[in-house]
Amino acid sequence: MRMVVLGLGYLGATHAACMAELGHEVLGIEVDPEKREQLAAGVVPFYEPGLPELLRKHIDSGRLTVSGSYRDAAEFADVFFIAVGTPQKKGEYGADLQYVDAAIDELIPLLTRDGLILGKSTVPVGTAQRLSDRAAELAKDVDVEIAWNPEFLREGYAVKDTLQPDRLVLGRFAGGRAESVSRDIYSSIIDSGTPFIITDPPTAELVKTSANAFLATKISFINAIAEVCDAAGADVKAIADAIGYDSRIGRKFLNAGIGFGGGCLPKDIRAFMARAGELGAAEALTFLREVDNVNMRRRTRMVELAREVCGGTLLGKRVAILGAAFKPESDDVRDSPALNVAGQIQLQGASVSVYDPKAMDNSRKLFPTLDYSSSALEACDQADAMLLLTEWQEFLSLDPAELGKRVRHKNLVDGRMCLNPTVWESAGWNYRV
Ligand code: UDX
Repeated sequence: MRMVVLGLGYLGATHAACMAELGHEVLGIEVDPEKREQLAAGVVPFYEPGLPELLRKHIDSGRLTVSGSYRDAAEFADVFFIAVGTPQKKGEYGADLQYVDAAIDELIPLLTRDGLILGKSTVPVGTAQRLSDRAAELAKDVDVEIAWNPEFLREGYAVKDTLQPDRLVLGRFAGGRAESVSRDIYSSIIDSGTPFIITDPPTAELVKTSANAFLATKISFINAIAEVCDAAGADVKAIADAIGYDSRIGRKFLNAGIGFGGGCLPKDIRAFMARAGELGAAEALTFLREVDNVNMRRRTRMVELAREVCGGTLLGKRVAILGAAFKPESDDVRDSPALNVAGQIQLQGASVSVYDPKAMDNSRKLFPTLDYSSSALEACDQADAMLLLTEWQEFLSLDPAELGKRVRHKNLVDGRMCLNPTVWESAGWNYRV
C-alpha cells in the first residue's frame, strides 16, 4: 500500500522505515532540511539500534522516499500517518499541539481525493475529535477521516516495538474505512497473533496516556519505597525482586534509582494532568503530581549523596558523571536525570566531567558548560566522587581496581543500582546508592 508519514523524527523515521519493511511504499515528509537530507541519504540523525540498516535498505530499494513538500504528500497517497512531536508547552503542563495542528492545516487543503489520517503522536484525549472538526472545515470537496493509532515504542527497541508490538490499538469513528485500511497495513503483524484493539478515538488516545502514566507510577512507587528503605536501613532491590515474583506485580519497571526522564514519561504525565483538569477530572490524577514529585526528589537526593561522599561540600571537588542519556541504548538527553544532576553539582561549585558512549554531542549542545571526557577512565581522573547515572553495558564491566588508580577518592554513587556492591567494596570503594 502507498502511504505518507508526516514528521520524520524519532517516531516517524522508525515508523516509515518499518512500514517499508512490511512491504509498503512510503513517502516521509520532514520539514527540517538538514534532517531531510540525512534521511534521504540513508543516515539516521539519532542513535537507534537496528534503524540505520533498515532505513538504508529501504532508501536503496526505493520503497522509502523523503520529501519536504506537503504537495508531494497529497499527490503520493491517500493514507497519512501523523508522527510529529507533541512536547510540553513552555511554562505549562499541557502538550503543545502546534506541530499536529500545522500538519493538518497544511495537508488537508491540498487533498484532491478522500483521505485517511492515522494519528500516531501522543495527544490529549479529545484531539482526534477536534482535528476531525477542523478537517471538515478545511477539506475542499473531499472527505477526510481521522483516526488514532498510538505508538508504544521504547527508544533503544523502537524497530522491534514497531514490527513486533505487544498490541495494536486503533481508535476510529463509526462508518469510516480506518479499520479495514489498518488491517491491510498491519496484516502480517495481526496474522502473527498480535492483539488488535479496535475502539473509539478518545479511548485510543487514553490507552497511550494511561500506559505511560502507569509506567511512571510504577517507577515512582519503587523510588518511594527506596526513600523508606533509606530511613529504615532496608534493601530496595531485594524488595523489588521479592514483590516482582508476584505475577500480578511483575519485576519490570521496578528498578529504583535516579528516576525516569526522556521525551515521553515526564511530559506525558504532566499533559495528562493538565487535560484531566480541563475536563473537570483533575482530582482523579492528583496522584500523578506525587509521582512527578517522587521522581524529581531522586535527582535532588543524588546531588545530596554526591555532596555527602565529598565530605559535606562540592566546592572545588571533581565529580565524574558516567552516563548522560536518559537511558542506555539511546543518545536522547531530553529531560535526562543524569544531565540534570550533573548541572546541579556544577552549580554547587564542583568541576564535573561527563562521559556517555553515545550522547556526547547532544549533551554538549544542551549543557555546553560541562566538561566532557572521551572515556569513563578519563572522566574519573582525580575524581573525588564517581556517579553512575545511566546503566550502559560498558559501565557494568568497569574494573574497580583500574578505576581506583585514576581517582583521588574511591567514592562511588550508583544512581541506577546496577553494580555489584560486594565487588566494589572489596576493592576499597565507598559504594553508595
Ligand atoms: C516510554 C514508554 O516505555 C513507551 O512505551 C512510550 O511509547 C514512550 O515512553 P521511553 O521513553 O523510550 O519509552 O523509555 P522507557 O524505557 O519507558 O524508560 C523511561 C525512563 O524510565 C528512563 O529514564 C529509564 O531509565 C527509567 N526507568 C525505567 C527507571 O528509572 N526504572 C525502571 O525500572 C525502568
